Amino acid sequence: MIVTTAQLFKIAYRKYAVGAYNINNMEQALGLFQAPFIIQLSKGARKYANARVLEAIIRAVESEYPEAIFAVHLDHGDEQTCYDCIDSGFYSSVMIDAAHEPFAENVATARRVVERAHARGLSVESELGMLGGVEEDIKVDEKHAMLTDPDEAKAFVEQSGCDSLAVAIGTSHGAYKFSGSQGLHFDRITAIQAALPGFPLVMHGSSSVPQSEVERINAAGGALNPNAKGVDDNQFARAAKLGVTKVNIDTDGRLVWTRVHREFFRDHPEGFDFRTPGKEYVKAYAEFIVDKSRKLGSAGTLDQVRAAVS
Ligand code: G3H
Ligand code: 13P
Ligand code: ZN
Repeated sequence: MIVTTAQLFKIAYRKYAVGAYNINNMEQALGLFQAPFIIQLSKGARKYANARVLEAIIRAVESEYPEAIFAVHLDHGDEQTCYDCIDSGFYSSVMIDAAHEPFAENVATARRVVERAHARGLSVESELGMLGGVEEDIKVDEKHAMLTDPDEAKAFVEQSGCDSLAVAIGTSHGAYKFSGSQGLHFDRITAIQAALPGFPLVMHGSSSVPQSEVERINAAGGALNPNAKGVDDNQFARAAKLGVTKVNIDTDGRLVWTRVHREFFRDHPEGFDFRTPGKEYVKAYAEFIVDKSRKLGSAGTLDQVRAAVS
């Protein structure tokens, strides 16, 4: 059952976080259907697999797993892609990614998307602040300037009318997020939540980049930087209690794919039937989703969510 992102947020807010997984193919779609979740399609995914083909895959897998409850979200959309997704009738929500614009333009762009989305019953995620590696050698003042400012966040939400906000709280996209002892800036999450009580926050760049995956990939011929480091997923629950209601994960799913395929072809150099590692990936990705759902606190909530949305 496809539900609205707003419905999932309402149930999860300050209790647990909903995993928002980027998918690009049939294998990931097949591995997903375990707990309440959000499927995210990026512009890159829509181009790689063709937006209509992805939609058909999701619809087909949904019919195979009628018990599943999920929302479909456009990840990192530009204005035109937001409109395409709003008009398609398939999406539950869109993200307008205009955080690179100055504050006033970011607000104005988000406002336009919110008007079009709300008229069709979709909700809108916007972004404020500079997501990116906050290096340890950056001075404290500079470090904090990159994080989302709580007062600006309040003004942004009031002026744009958006339904959730992606905030810069120390994370970045990809496999190389932190060095040394860095982690989430809980003081900043607390301050943003205090400025925006009752409002769902979104954490991008939430992959954990497990050391074991990096080591296994490298042992099977990969050359990932062994210092690759991500978000400690044992911190998800604490972030969720502070209003982080959507946790975006892409890189970790790609690492699982890379590990399964590299190990398979290392161990079967004579092999060429991609369906064998493909099936193994569906299973490994499903196990990965179950583990993430436990860490996010969303595991075992399906019946409660079903009762709330039906
Ligand atoms: O935050 C970006 C997501 O990881 C999507 O990545 O644009 O390569 O599909 P992509
Ligand atoms: P990761 O690169 O940490 O998986 O982040 C994904 C993301 O934020 C998608 O919007
Ligand atoms: Zn992102």
